[in-house]
Amino acid sequence: MARLKAMLVVGARPQLIKSAPIVKEIIAHHRQISLTLIHSGQHYDREMSAIFFRELKMPAPLANLRAGSGSHGTQTATIMKRLERLILKARPRVVLVPGDTNTTLAAALAAVKLGVSVAHIEAGLRSGDMTMPEEINRRLADHCSRLLFAPTRTALHNLKEEGLGRLAHLTGDTMVDALHAVMPEVQRRQQAVLRSLGLRGQAYLLVTLHRPSNVDNLNRLHRIQLALCRVARTLPVVFLVHPRTRAKLIELKALRGLKARVILTGPQGYLETLCLLKNAGCVLTDSGGMQKESFLLQVPCITLRDATEWPETLAHKNNRLLARPELIPEVVSSTMVRTSLEESARMVTNPFGDGHASRRIARILEESF
Ligand code: UD1
Repeated sequence: MARLKAMLVVGARPQLIKSAPIVKEIIAHHRQISLTLIHSGQHYDREMSAIFFRELKMPAPLANLRAGSGSHGTQTATIMKRLERLILKARPRVVLVPGDTNTTLAAALAAVKLGVSVAHIEAGLRSGDMTMPEEINRRLADHCSRLLFAPTRTALHNLKEEGLGRLAHLTGDTMVDALHAVMPEVQRRQQAVLRSLGLRGQAYLLVTLHRPSNVDNLNRLHRIQLALCRVARTLPVVFLVHPRTRAKLIELKALRGLKARVILTGPQGYLETLCLLKNAGCVLTDSGGMQKESFLLQVPCITLRDATEWPETLAHKNNRLLARPELIPEVVSSTMVRTSLEESARMVTNPFGDGHASRRIARILEESF
């Protein structure tokens, strides 16, 4: 029987995490699938890409399209143009696109317009906010896919509502698989990571912010900066600064002032981030992945947004949406207190699956072609 030629296109940090368990599963157990890995080059810094390949033990991609940064149109179009050539040359039966980045949309469009089937990993998420680039990307990717891998029941429901139910499969979330795989290493490293930053477990606020809605508006970023400095008067604050956020803080001339009060580091690898997340008293973020990871690791989360595509995390008050930066200090202190009180109430069920999503995805892929 001819092997199924599949192409997996990644490019941004979260896509590497979501894809790693699938790559591992296919290589180990699905010899019938011949998998080609392509990197769009959307993320290119070592700490945004290469470190994830190493930590997640991913094979090197066959090609890097070196699309780099740029406006959404330019980035998406560059990836499409360069990927089209590769698809024509490699002639895969199916192109796998994980997540909701510009790389996801570009790869889905390039493939479907060449008549190649698209399979969307992490299909069906909806925040309802079409001003978010990710919402546009995920909706469009879903609607040009032939196979939709839904991580949660809510995602499956959303797909059914949009008439896509017959293409959808409930698989669970591959981020759970990824988390399970690295947990032993996280346990081993965590104390050293805390020590290196002079932190005590459960006694600091971990911050990651990179959404355009928070960091591109300098007025809002200024308000966030003031709020973090206020928190830092009573609680250590560790801020993992994404390149986009760093550029905006520099524009705001706020980097030095923040550095005097808050522990600032560049983006961290997957393992270090999980070490810091697992031991935090509370996390303040706008990342989809961190909302989920904090839920799974039972760390209270404050999401600095007014909507989330992961409504499951709001259950048991594990995650809380916060729109106004001014309220950060107050909400952080009440969240830290609440944690110990509601410890037993959290984590009743895990809506993100059992850690075997990749196995299901690989099997469905094999059976579908
Ligand atoms: C992208 C995704 C977002 C995801 C995030 C994870 C889109 C629309 N957004 O956002 O969904 O949550 O990745 O990080 O696809 N930069 C560097 N080095 C890099 C990469 C980027 O310095 O390796 C800088 C560039 O100045 C660039 C900016 O970061 O302009 C933003 O990068 P970009 O890829 O446009 O989007 P992210 O904000 O990372």
